[in-house]
Amino acid sequence: MSHQLTFYGHSAWELKTPEGRLLIDPFFTGNPAATIQASEAKADFIALTHGHGDHVGDCVDIAKRTGATVIAVYEICEWLGKHGVANTHGMNAGGGFKFPFGRLKQTIAHHSSVLPDGTYGGNPVGLHVTLNSGTTIYHAGDTALFSDMKLYAEGGLDLAILPIGDNYTMGVDDALRAVEWLRPKRVLPTHYDTWPVIAADAERFATEAMRRFGVKVTVLRPGQTFAW
Ligand code: NI
Ligand code: MN
Repeated sequence: MSHQLTFYGHSAWELKTPEGRLLIDPFFTGNPAATIQASEAKADFIALTHGHGDHVGDCVDIAKRTGATVIAVYEICEWLGKHGVANTHGMNAGGGFKFPFGRLKQTIAHHSSVLPDGTYGGNPVGLHVTLNSGTTIYHAGDTALFSDMKLYAEGGLDLAILPIGDNYTMGVDDALRAVEWLRPKRVLPTHYDTWPVIAADAERFATEAMRRFGVKVTVLRPGQTFAW
């Protein structure tokens, strides 16, 4: 139980490892599903999947308070720098880098990415993380289904965090195809039920993923943690 993934509602997650905490898409203020306030969030690193407000969220304030290094696409890092964030690590899709907690690679995501003030945010990404323990985690970010997900299955995936809320991202049926292609050992659904427009039946997703592909789905309510 040295590793934990905590769901904070919508697309906000905290990955706790022996080498530090990685906060992903820290959207607390204005997030009706959030169970903590931005001022309570802890982070050594913050990863952003794209520039939309429901993902950048409270990143600037949390980074300033904690001194965390923000990992994001280059254009978003430039914007963060102009907003007073001292520590950033710019990347782009297809590139990986070895951080203290493990290797993080930005993957493609089919979506859009503009920052809250209208600034161009580059392309959206997903995150593929290989922890020092060898555990592999794929956070798809906001994305449509795309068949290159099959490539991410090649090295074996332990955990996949997949959006199921439809409307802005994959819905349940496309996410089930993603499960078929990714073949992770376990899936954690995200980006649903925050607002009525992305209401989704996570229990149906879980039932079908097991029935059709034998893949376990752990449905976390905001504030809950999966540990291993
Ligand atoms: Ni988005
Ligand atoms: Mn979103």
